[in-house]
Amino acid sequence: MHMKEQLAKIREEALEAIRNTDVDSALDAVRVKYLGKKGELTALLKQTGKLPAEERPVVGQMANEVRTALTDAIATQKKTLAASAMEMRLAAETVDVTIPGDRTELGHIHPLTKVVDEITDVFTGMGFEVADGPEIELAAYNFTRLNTEEGHPGREWTDTFYITEGHDDPKNDAVLLRSQTSPMQIRVMEQKQPPIRMIAPGRVFRKDEADATHSPMFHQIEGMVVDKGITMADLKGTLNEVVKALYGPDAVTRFRPHHFPFTEPSCEVDMQCFECKGKGCSVCKGEGWIELLGAGMIHPKVLEGCGIDTDVYSGWAFGMGVERLAMRRYGIKDLRLVFENDVRFLKQF
Ligand code: DAH
Repeated sequence: MHMKEQLAKIREEALEAIRNTDVDSALDAVRVKYLGKKGELTALLKQTGKLPAEERPVVGQMANEVRTALTDAIATQKKTLAASAMEMRLAAETVDVTIPGDRTELGHIHPLTKVVDEITDVFTGMGFEVADGPEIELAAYNFTRLNTEEGHPGREWTDTFYITEGHDDPKNDAVLLRSQTSPMQIRVMEQKQPPIRMIAPGRVFRKDEADATHSPMFHQIEGMVVDKGITMADLKGTLNEVVKALYGPDAVTRFRPHHFPFTEPSCEVDMQCFECKGKGCSVCKGEGWIELLGAGMIHPKVLEGCGIDTDVYSGWAFGMGVERLAMRRYGIKDLRLVFENDVRFLKQF
């Protein structure tokens, strides 16, 4: 074949090969194949010396043209490859801002905590402090110093969770899970001289089988006022205000005589059913009244046991169960739901 034809063929083949490359490395291989030191075009040029003298310049010029054409084509193809690589990357990394996002679910306050917060707000608004204390208590605080002597049924191991050995004969220094928040009365009076106005919300524990209305762990709020000249009238006045703050100005209360070891006199406070106004309905179980709390004038023995002079000071106290209030407020039928933390239940509030 004549050298001119060979050059034309190389040109055709090389241009075709360049156009067909899809990555930089392939393009480089084509360049080496034709224009490299051992490339086809280079090899051909080496043979121009064998040509007749008159043909040499023509073939040399043509060879240079081919070299320039290939070099240009390679440069162009390099740009094309770079552009399409960029396009592919952009397409792959595109974010469709119109696709709806995932909603982050917001948590909220547990219904039980809501009720505790609400009641706490009413009392702190009246100048009460909030006290916190141990759930693991000594029998001395849970019972003895609350004037609850040995032999009281609450002290039995069948009623109370004892932690220390010998729980069937609970001694004064026995360690237990508090069965009421009342030991907080002693703990606060130990720390502080009157005037005292405090509430103590917290968990309490009793050996009750869990069912729709019982739980071995539940919540109480203890309250206590100790000052000069405190009477049953203060107790009634304060608790009436609290009930009105929680249930509205028309709420009606009733104070029934009762017995607690640590108060004398003692009472239970009921509120007229907010649903039926005393007629009797499913909320109050036909009673017309809803039991709210136990209360009374703090027994002199309890005050004196904390070094408080009963000639100068007197006080009242109360204890209320939180779960029953919350269940009534939110229409919760089964107490177990309150503690199971099933999201399907909690979402309702
Ligand atoms: N601790 C009592 C209970 O668990 C409730 C109670 C009644 C607390 C009268 C008081 C009170 O402070 O004065 O049943």
